[in-house]
Amino acid sequence: MNNPIDSVMSGYTNLIRRGRNFVCLCPFHSEKTPSCTVYAENNSFYCFGCGVGGDVITFVMKIENLDYVEAIKFLADRAGMTMPEDNSADSRAAYMKSRILEINRTAARFYYNVLTHSPEGEKGRRYFAERQLLPKTITKYGLGYAPNDWYSLTNFMRSKGYGEDELIAADLCSRGKKGGLYDRFRDRVMFPIIDLRGNVIAFGGRVIDDGTPKYLNSSDTPVFKKSMNLFSLNFAKKSEEKRLILAEGYMDVISINQAGFENVVATLGTALTQEQARLMSRYAEEIIIAYDSDGAGQKATHKAINLLSDAGVKTRIIKMEGAKDPDEYIKKFGAMRFRQLLDRSGGAIEFELAGCRNGLDISTDEGRIEYLKRCVKLLADISSPIVREVYIGRISDETRISREVLFQQVNSTIKKRADQNKKREWTEIRTFQNEFKKDPEAYRHSKEYKAETGIISFLAAYPEEITYVASKISPDDFVTGFNRKIYAAILEKSKNSGFYDILSLQSEFTADEMGKITEIAVNSKDVNINKTAVDDFIKFLKDRADNSQDVNALSDDDFRNYFDRLKKKK
Ligand code: CTP
Ligand code: MN
Repeated sequence: MNNPIDSVMSGYTNLIRRGRNFVCLCPFHSEKTPSCTVYAENNSFYCFGCGVGGDVITFVMKIENLDYVEAIKFLADRAGMTMPEDNSADSRAAYMKSRILEINRTAARFYYNVLTHSPEGEKGRRYFAERQLLPKTITKYGLGYAPNDWYSLTNFMRSKGYGEDELIAADLCSRGKKGGLYDRFRDRVMFPIIDLRGNVIAFGGRVIDDGTPKYLNSSDTPVFKKSMNLFSLNFAKKSEEKRLILAEGYMDVISINQAGFENVVATLGTALTQEQARLMSRYAEEIIIAYDSDGAGQKATHKAINLLSDAGVKTRIIKMEGAKDPDEYIKKFGAMRFRQLLDRSGGAIEFELAGCRNGLDISTDEGRIEYLKRCVKLLADISSPIVREVYIGRISDETRISREVLFQQVNSTIKKRADQNKKREWTEIRTFQNEFKKDPEAYRHSKEYKAETGIISFLAAYPEEITYVASKISPDDFVTGFNRKIYAAILEKSKNSGFYDILSLQSEFTADEMGKITEIAVNSKDVNINKTAVDDFIKFLKDRADNSQDVNALSDDDFRNYFDRLKKKK
């Protein structure tokens, strides 16, 4: 099949040639400098930023959200090939999926017709009218009504020739005690969930009055994973906006959309997941969180901020007063005021700082002290000194505590954390201890092995730092043979360009060895070694020759102390 990975990937991101390979901004997370490498030779890719990687099929599966067979089909289509039909389990699964999609589409049309054209639909029509949905919104979202009857959909689908098993697989019908099928959704207004290719993949159904559960959602089916999809992304994706609004509920999304904002999505009856955060980061640089104003909504906002910032997108948070959710806000104050809410939304720091006040009475001394403690913790998280300074000023004004004292507190917290991190780095490198058992040399020189592995991990994560590291340490300073060989190979590869790809070491190493190297590269992300730590590792390896003490006899803590002494000596 003629699908070179660079040609496939260039449909999603700009590839820049670098030697035999390409680099690009990773299409799976949002970033400003390219950390994704495309290996044309072996038709694979790897992102050093988010750790995603694989061959061209994996790429298509991930980016198009397809399963293996669908991805193959996708690539075959792309290459202008037709796929032979076969009866393998894979193709049976693919057939089931296409049947379920067809069933979902037919059911969505059924619910829509009931809502818009039938006498029983009156109840649903009245409900949506009360909630001020326009007919064109109902059509746009394909909303519907499931009649108050146990068999309407079941009978309709049977009449269209669909079988019991597939109706159950689509999660539209259930099997009763006596073996017969009945409708899962009854007397509910229906929200079809539509994916990026326009398929109806699932439904949410809301009760008309105060019954429970308020919402009934399709469970995961062969065509639906609720953690991987977003409501209304099919519309939001087409919007020109660089920012996405994230709301809590179906009704909020529809209301916001009807008010003129196409760029709004919601999760599907669960809290935001990592996959959804990543998905959003592909369509937006900034997410405006517009969750409910109640306690639960604010808690969920806090979690969403963390997930989204892990996915590399900026967040802003709307501050909604006088309404419990965006739907109510728009009804009370109108679309213009909602736009102002979006434009005046604050950053994540502001939101979190405001949250520090929760449950505290700032007018009392104890309240103020607790508030300040929480603020200091938060401020210590901010990496930019300028931004930190700004917020220190603000809190100092607010609490009438001098800037100097706040500054000092924040700095000592930062320092404390750095020390803890350093301690952790050494411990984490111990995860390589398993390797020791296989490699007697690594066992004998375990400290050196850790330091060396640390350096290689760092280089795997930051290949551009090779020039710096190379200026500080030579392969001769490496004690264990395998690590020395890796480092020497890296030096060789980067000699001319000052850059290298860890996977290009393939030419020098066996498949087994490459496996170990890849493991180090992949772990490098979790270990998260910074430059200071690398300086320590280098110093340790350089100094060990001058020092007769048997460092391997030391405990980890003694070792760290010994290390600090070495540092002071210089
Ligand atoms: N939800 C759910 N099951 C429930 C309650 C809520 O799956 N029993 C999900 C739905 O996706 C819902 C979202 O959580 O859209 C937000 O819940 P809520 O605020 O209660 O519903 P809204 O969509 O805002 O509906 P309404 O405006 O009618 O209250
Ligand atoms: Mn709500």
